[in-house]
Amino acid sequence: MERTLVLLKPDCVQRRLMGRVIGRLEDKGLNIVAMKLMRVTPELAKKHYAEHVKKDWYPELEKFITSAPLAAMIVEGPEAIRVVREMVGATNGLKAAPGTVRGDFSTSQQMNLIHASDGPESAVREIGIFFTPSEICEYTPTLRQWQHPG
Ligand code: PPS
Repeated sequence: MERTLVLLKPDCVQRRLMGRVIGRLEDKGLNIVAMKLMRVTPELAKKHYAEHVKKDWYPELEKFITSAPLAAMIVEGPEAIRVVREMVGATNGLKAAPGTVRGDFSTSQQMNLIHASDGPESAVREIGIFFTPSEICEYTPTLRQWQHPG
């Protein structure tokens, strides 16, 4: 089992697409083990996007991500990090493949609806930024025996 951080960004919340995106994750058989609606502060944005803070487009990204509430989630499942990244699609909505969240709903590089951790190290780091251990609700879904052998 892997865990990955998923953010439904402010454009996803404002466009009322949360339900459809969460539905895709649930349809796939992924398990949401933590979830909250929150407002990201500039400090939190700088921590989360630490590797991008020096890029010339970072101020715009920070303005966007702090502009309205987002929904943060921890999503769990076999190979969840890769599986969710593939469901999310390429960064730029104009280039993302049809069938992916961004490919189906976004036409922007910045307002691309959703963030998902890009590897095991970033998943651990990002989950630690957005959630405390007590906010994670572990459970075994009763459907699991029909979704994953063993
Ligand atoms: S890059 O360009 O390779 O660093 O792209 P990537 O790692 O996929 O992007 C990291 C996040 O930065 C956002 N991004 C941008 N925001 C505003 N303007 C521009 N030009 C831009 N380029 C990338 C992008 O949406 C990624 O957000 P997350 O939340 O990580 O998906």
